[in-house]
Amino acid sequence: MERVVQITFFGLLLVLVTTLPNKDDWDIYSFHINSTVTSRYATTVITSRVANRMDQSKEIEFQVCIPKNAFISKFRMFIDGQAYDGVVKAKEQAQQQYSEAVSRGQSAGLVSSVGRTLEEFKTSVTVAAHKKVTFELTYEELLKRRLGKYELQIHARPMQLVRDFKVDVYIHEKAGINFMEVTGGLSTKALVNAITKTKTDKQAWVYFYPTEDQQRTCDSCGEQGMDGDLVIVYDVNRDIAFGDIRNSDGYFVHHFAPSNLPRIPKNVVFVIDQSGSMLGRKIQQTRTALIYILNDLAEDDYFGLITFNSALFYWKRELVQATKGNVDSAKNFARNINARGGTDINEAVLKGASMLNAHPREGSASILILLTDGDPTSGVTDIVTIQSNVRRAIADKFPLYCLGFGFDVNFEFLEKMSLQNNGAARRIYADSDSDLQLKGFYEEVAIPLLTNVTMTYTGGTNLTKTHFRQYYNGSEIVVAGQITDNNIETFNPEVVAISGTGKMRFFDKNNTIESIGTDSRIQRVWAYLTVKQLLEKELQLSGQEKDKMKQEALELSLKYSFVTPLTSMVVTKPEGENTDVLHKPKEEAGSAVRGGAGHLHHPSRVSVDMPYNPAVQMPYLPVSSHRTPAAHTPLIESAMDLPADYSLLLLPTISTVPPSHRFLLKSENQSLPLCFDVPGPTRLKLLHYPNRELSVNGFLNSKANRGFKKIAIHLKDDQYIEIKPRGISVQRGQGVRHKTAQDLVAADITVIGRDKEFDVAVGDARMVILIHQNGGEEFLWPVLRQLPMDNNVEGILALKPAVYEEVQQTPSTKLKIKDQEIDVTRSSAVDYSIPFPPTLDCWFMSTESALQGQLEDFTVAKL
Ligand SMILES: *[C@@H]1O[C@H](CO)[C@@H](O)[C@H](O)[C@H]1NC(C)=O
Ligand SMILES: *[C@@H]1O[C@H](CO)[C@@H](O)[C@H](O)[C@H]1NC(C)=O
Ligand SMILES: *[C@@H]1O[C@H](CO)[C@@H](O)[C@H](O)[C@H]1NC(C)=O
Ligand SMILES: *[C@@H]1O[C@H](CO)[C@@H](O)[C@H](O)[C@H]1NC(C)=O
Ligand SMILES: *[C@@H]1O[C@H](CO)[C@@H](O)[C@H](O)[C@H]1NC(C)=O
Ligand SMILES: *[C@@H]1O[C@H](CO)[C@@H](O)[C@H](O)[C@H]1NC(C)=O
Repeated sequence: MERVVQITFFGLLLVLVTTLPNKDDWDIYSFHINSTVTSRYATTVITSRVANRMDQSKEIEFQVCIPKNAFISKFRMFIDGQAYDGVVKAKEQAQQQYSEAVSRGQSAGLVSSVGRTLEEFKTSVTVAAHKKVTFELTYEELLKRRLGKYELQIHARPMQLVRDFKVDVYIHEKAGINFMEVTGGLSTKALVNAITKTKTDKQAWVYFYPTEDQQRTCDSCGEQGMDGDLVIVYDVNRDIAFGDIRNSDGYFVHHFAPSNLPRIPKNVVFVIDQSGSMLGRKIQQTRTALIYILNDLAEDDYFGLITFNSALFYWKRELVQATKGNVDSAKNFARNINARGGTDINEAVLKGASMLNAHPREGSASILILLTDGDPTSGVTDIVTIQSNVRRAIADKFPLYCLGFGFDVNFEFLEKMSLQNNGAARRIYADSDSDLQLKGFYEEVAIPLLTNVTMTYTGGTNLTKTHFRQYYNGSEIVVAGQITDNNIETFNPEVVAISGTGKMRFFDKNNTIESIGTDSRIQRVWAYLTVKQLLEKELQLSGQEKDKMKQEALELSLKYSFVTPLTSMVVTKPEGENTDVLHKPKEEAGSAVRGGAGHLHHPSRVSVDMPYNPAVQMPYLPVSSHRTPAAHTPLIESAMDLPADYSLLLLPTISTVPPSHRFLLKSENQSLPLCFDVPGPTRLKLLHYPNRELSVNGFLNSKANRGFKKIAIHLKDDQYIEIKPRGISVQRGQGVRHKTAQDLVAADITVIGRDKEFDVAVGDARMVILIHQNGGEEFLWPVLRQLPMDNNVEGILALKPAVYEEVQQTPSTKLKIKDQEIDVTRSSAVDYSIPFPPTLDCWFMSTESALQGQLEDFTVAKL
């Protein structure tokens, strides 16, 4: 049994350290964003591994952007093999510590708003000379369905070029994924070969592995590396109007979004601020949006239009039908809206409400929309009085939506007023696309499908909100709760609502609610929704009731360790270091947003340098502490581990049928991939760059469908790295072999060992070597996550996606590839390019046809 010489790390270090890039600073050598979405609940982990390349200790920063809608739920740092976990505490309590820390001259980390949808998280730690630190931040969010789709926004801004940069996204939706696409500033042409997508009925994977070059040259990139979004857009199937319920451990989540319903005619009144502050682009964009919206009204809609400053201006005193004549006349009115004067919000909203009240219409849905860019300055200006007036006027009969234009609005006032009236507030950012934002908001409420939606769950308890004034096409209603005594037998969900054709009842016809085993995420969705809704209620209430909501929200935030507006994350650090306290910023007036990071409070930073101890200088920290070596010993290990030249001769014969390994070849323009078999044991040429002295070979197992036993990477200068499921070993020239289960960061290669994979970055090749198991045996499977641009690249991984056409179905299926007709049969293959490999349908063909050549062209004599 081979046990490669276990030598001191020093030999290896000396070799590698001398070849490290000559950075006088610190180096983010690995940056990884891993997002898992199940039932629209996204859990994202950002892991950044940083090395201090200097001869002295250095304060190293971790700074990332996360969606505003998300709650941070975990933060850890690993330094010197030691984990430091952030602790979520009540804000007041943390604030106290924070004040003490500041008075001691220590610094505080901050979370602050950036842009429209993001918040920035920032902290730092002092790292000794030639040491490494790993930062790991986890955040969670329930994706909201808007205009018929969910969007998972991932913001990538590592602040440096990163050799091992990657984004892995995994989506699992029980209802089935209807479509999925990747958009965002990072999904541009220059980066297209860095994105790989795979989708089956219920699962989807997106991988984004840009090279350093691409990180520098893409549209939203620069010398500081990437700064942009990758947005995964998708929707799920909605075959059942009742939607889908998932439950686990006594908690359930119900997603309700029927779409096959007729629209309900609406009565909509627009109340538009035309005060002096709207002057210029704001009023121009408002006019543009309004004209678009008026055009979009259906003939059986009724509408009203009021503009206001210190006075009110009516287009018509009452609601009128959206006939062509009326719409044209209203558009004329809209074109002539001019900005001047004060802001009488009270009078305007009350008049809008009374217009709707004066026009009750059976089978319609009423909506009141207010657009303003400022605080009330004329008429009634007391906010509390306005709120109670509006509440009385609307009396729960229809929703009020408030659009706050720009940052001079009291957004909290608008938010409170809309929530008190079954609506919601939205900020419209004063920018070149403000008109699109207005249109976008309108489109979300343009098609009411149901009103008075009541969700009942007999046998359920601790439910989130169950009454919804209106349900619009493209949106979704989500309810979570607990199942009493976890008894599904007595759990009976039902939805009653009013549709365009009358009262409707939705229920689970097939009684398909099944437990899905233990999935703590269902409980977390419940906690997430409950906290969000308690915070909304808290905003609307006052006095004791307010305190009660606050207390409940706080308790849940602490229990589930969510960083919410009521809690803070206290970052623990090594002895003698600054304490950081992170708060979630409020969606408030512009100051925090405009001020940028740390503008509001910016305590001076005092670094406490760690003593320099040469005795412990060892850059290779066991970063991936949970990567445990496999305990088992495969039977033929000894044969396989002999020098490559002998192994074939010594292999015991297991069966007369050569053990074969099935490979998949994805198609460029067809949904079914091709597949073919390669017999094992074989030494395959995986990737070969002739003019760059880089090649990667793999040794296929001698047992069928057990992938690769080992993979060798040859670099110029005689360097040779061998990867096996249990670790990496390095050989240079005729030198000794070194074995390490840890990261390898050298001048021309980075290999990061993770839990179930190795990430390899070499030149512009980005490869992942996944560790799979079959029959208790671990094996490797290499995947290219960056398709080579270079046409000279050879090897089985460099095969281009197949382009084929189905030309014949009977008597046997034939595919046409490059003017050649090829016999195929329908078969299946395990897609080992995915961490939990799914089985895919494929067209099976001969190896030669699939490779468009002989297998010998893809083999090597020596690993
Ligand atoms: C990504 O996260 C999922 C879920 O937490 C985990 O199973 C998977 O191993 C992670 N992937 C990597 C490469 O860390
Ligand atoms: C609702 O939206 C779906 C697409 O998301 C569309 O097919 C359907 O026609 C819409 N319903 C109405 C009433 O417009
Ligand atoms: C819908 O609910 C509102 C408020 O509860 C109520 O006033 C109205 O009568 C209901 N409409 C119908 C048709 O049930
Ligand atoms: C759930 O409801 C039960 C009573 O119905 C209550 O005792 C329990 O505290 C609730 N749990 C939470 C977490 O709110
Ligand atoms: C429910 O049952 C009907 C009739 O048996 C069937 O057609 C339908 O596919 C079932 N739906 C689900 C989600 O099982
Ligand atoms: C795929 O490409 C081939 C060759 O260009 C073409 O004949 C075929 O129609 C394409 N199929 C689809 C579904 O686009």
